[in-house]
Amino acid sequence: MKELEAIAEELKIGQYVRHVFLCVGEACCSNEAGNAAWVKLKGILKDRNLSLSFGPSACYRTKAGCLRVCQGGPILVVYPEGYWYGGMTEDRIERFVEEQIVQGKPIEEWIFAKNPLHMDASPPDQSA
Ligand code: FES
Repeated sequence: MKELEAIAEELKIGQYVRHVFLCVGEACCSNEAGNAAWVKLKGILKDRNLSLSFGPSACYRTKAGCLRVCQGGPILVVYPEGYWYGGMTEDRIERFVEEQIVQGKPIEEWIFAKNPLHMDASPPDQSA
């Protein structure tokens, strides 16, 4: 357990404001498109000191094998907002980081679903 706690501390887990999952699976995009988007995301987060960092825009990133949507990818989901983005090719990553991660503004035209997670674990309101 101490070893895991040390790893978490090294990864700054506990300090993040957002967590981004990017799917690079071949059912929703080509291998090249997925990997290019992932490399771009990693690079920009690192260059802007948003990855493995503290602060209001600190962002953890995870490369996923499948987010079960399996078309229109690369698919990306960002928490805690729970915004699901489609078509997140390399050319969209810089704007995504600036507007969604840094400014906290959703890019509505790229979002196809919203599922914010609630800390009280109650289900979303179904009456709307
Ligand atoms: S392969 Fe990307 S969502 Fe399934």
